[in-house]
Amino acid sequence: MSSNKVAIVTGASQGIGRSTAIRLAKDFGAIVLVARNRENLEQTAQAVTEAGAQALAIGIDLSLPDAAQAVVDQTLAAYGRIDALLNIAGAVPQIDLFDMTDEQWNNGLALKLHGARRLTIAAWPALKATSGSVVLMSGNSAVVPKAPYAAVGTINAAIVALAKAFSDRGIEDGVQVNSVLPGPVMTGRRQSYLEHWAPLHNMSVEEATAKFPKEAGIARYGSPEEIAELMAFVVSPGAQWMTGSTLRMDGGEVKSV
Ligand SMILES: NC(=O)c1ccc[n+]([C@@H]2O[C@H](COP(=O)([O-])OP(=O)(O)OC[C@H]3O[C@@H](n4cnc5c(N)ncnc54)[C@H](OP(=O)(O)O)[C@@H]3O)[C@@H](O)[C@H]2O)c1
Repeated sequence: MSSNKVAIVTGASQGIGRSTAIRLAKDFGAIVLVARNRENLEQTAQAVTEAGAQALAIGIDLSLPDAAQAVVDQTLAAYGRIDALLNIAGAVPQIDLFDMTDEQWNNGLALKLHGARRLTIAAWPALKATSGSVVLMSGNSAVVPKAPYAAVGTINAAIVALAKAFSDRGIEDGVQVNSVLPGPVMTGRRQSYLEHWAPLHNMSVEEATAKFPKEAGIARYGSPEEIAELMAFVVSPGAQWMTGSTLRMDGGEVKSV
């Protein structure tokens, strides 16, 4: 890729973040890959390089307060600019509303909400300089919160509001900010959840895997590559006038208007 544009992708060690990083290699000259697992990040870096972009892997825990500035500093030291920030990292525990402890709530918030908020603020001056784009990853649970995974829904709803607030400032500063809400996507995270959930409910993993799309009223799970295509569009020149928007890709799961 001949572009000199630089994108930061969090959660790039696996799942939707990894697929997004690889897809963005077609449109950006360099992709900065952020997550904790360095070995997995190196595998993504290899795939990004093969897809035509430079890659910089930063192994860091984004729930820690100093991590955001460290990611921005390393990115600017390596490439001198930031054109897009895709906040995808998230690991909110899926625990019943009445069982979840304060610590578990705080862990979910520390990464998915505050990690994304801090990184967006730390990258903002560089994004302002390039009239760049930010995406914050939410999820359908923001609009259909359920008791068995209330924290995910609550934090995803907060992410939508946070993206709106950033987009408000972005109108002045020339930075475009949107949130993306996937429905159920088959990633390693979902696979592990199903493997844990199925025996607790006297089901095989295959039965549990089939049960959720059926109950959600959709034909199948989405793939990480499909969400990556949407992420690539949101940060592309063709989407430049789209800001403050909440984009859903869910196979038709949300039935309301
Ligand atoms: N899959 C779905 O059905 C679905 C639906 C709606 C929304 N989403 C959202 O999409 C995002 C990605 O989901 P996914 O299914 O692809 O999940 P995943 O496969 O579990 O990936 C989560 C990513 O977050 C990173 N991460 C976790 N804790 C971190 C920390 N403390 N610091 C830095 N990075 C951390 C993980 O890397 P390390 O472990 O290496 O740190 C990993 O790269 C999440 O925000 C999720 O809520 C997913």
